[in-house]
Amino acid sequence: MISIAIIGAGTMGSGISIGAASSGNQIYLIDESDAALDTALRKADTVLARWVEKERLSEEDAKAARARMKTGVLEEVIPRVDLVIEAVFEDLTLKQTLLRRIDPLLKSSAIVATNTSCLKVADLAGSLSRPERFLGLHYFSPAEVNPLCELVRGPQTLDEVAETALAFLKSTGKQPLQCRDSSGFAVNRFFCPYTNEAARLVDEELAEPAEVDRVCRDVFGAAAGPFLVMNIIKPRINLNAIRNLSTLGRFYEPADGMIRTGDADQFWTIEEGDDTPGPNDAAIADRMVGATCLAVLQLLDEGVASPQDIDMGASMALKFGIPPCTLMDNWGQDRIRAAVEPICKAYDLPVPDTLERVGRLFT
Ligand SMILES: NC(=O)c1ccc[n+]([C@@H]2O[C@H](COP(=O)([O-])OP(=O)(O)OC[C@H]3O[C@@H](n4cnc5c(N)ncnc54)[C@H](O)[C@@H]3O)[C@@H](O)[C@H]2O)c1
Repeated sequence: MISIAIIGAGTMGSGISIGAASSGNQIYLIDESDAALDTALRKADTVLARWVEKERLSEEDAKAARARMKTGVLEEVIPRVDLVIEAVFEDLTLKQTLLRRIDPLLKSSAIVATNTSCLKVADLAGSLSRPERFLGLHYFSPAEVNPLCELVRGPQTLDEVAETALAFLKSTGKQPLQCRDSSGFAVNRFFCPYTNEAARLVDEELAEPAEVDRVCRDVFGAAAGPFLVMNIIKPRINLNAIRNLSTLGRFYEPADGMIRTGDADQFWTIEEGDDTPGPNDAAIADRMVGATCLAVLQLLDEGVASPQDIDMGASMALKFGIPPCTLMDNWGQDRIRAAVEPICKAYDLPVPDTLERVGRLFT
């Protein structure tokens, strides 16, 4: 068991800390806001009580986990810990400044991880004097229960550091997905276009949010459609993740409705009707599959992650019953080409080479 400093006790930091404390690790939560620390500890009380109620933890273990969660002051905590996980706001300069601040305080054996969603690990590594002990650990919300965590090595991350991080994730019950240091890593790279295409369909008045959600539940076997998922994670946060992918080109730029809803910090209105199929369902399915699979095919072209890992990520983090690589093989090359090519044309993008392998992606 190790001692861990979690800097940023917001949505993610609090969730990560509960999971890690309940696996026996000593946690020090650090935040510039006392209110955030109070909220994180109250969340821990609520979550641990719920786990006791559900018999996931004994009362004694829950009490011990909670006792292992302390708050602390950065300068005092950092020299004592084995692992630092930063989960402050998604802002390159803020994260770089924070890493520079902790750098002189770290034990030489300490490992530092960033929970960034969309920044590159390589762009942060240079802020530390030992970049070989730095990597990305990208948890998914709600981090206390979501089993997936992407493990992203920076350009200099040592094997030994990645192996220690892998063992740590497994010891806290997480399923690691190892992927390359590419914008959006494996899962957000296609999850963002998936939600963005849903917003585009609404912008173009081709569908209502409830229709898109219904079609996606059906086509991707998703537990919840994209609009409901966006409302859960907050459209503002989703917009931020999409904006961070915009450097990948026009296809990744946020839809107008996504900008309006996210910037106003509003939620999508989903007027659930009955579950009967509508006349636009096939067109909606083609657009949603086309956009999602285009991003997945690009990921495969770039070697960011394997089809197995992409599907594992979609199943575990997004609860897709029919994850994208399986879906592509099921639909077959001709049907996927028909869905993907119009989108490539609309955004002036080359058709990904991996399209030729659809139908046998897992062989
Ligand atoms: N929310 C998600 O669904 C999600 C999922 C995966 C990864 N992430 C990533 O995790 C990180 C945190 O996201 P979040 O949603 O938890 O944000 P959040 O806004 O809920 O929490 C961020 C916390 O960081 C604190 N903070 C900011 N600057 C600080 C500093 N210099 N020192 C100490 N504390 C500071 C804030 O007070 C706040 O409590 C981001 O990089 C985000 O991209 C978010």
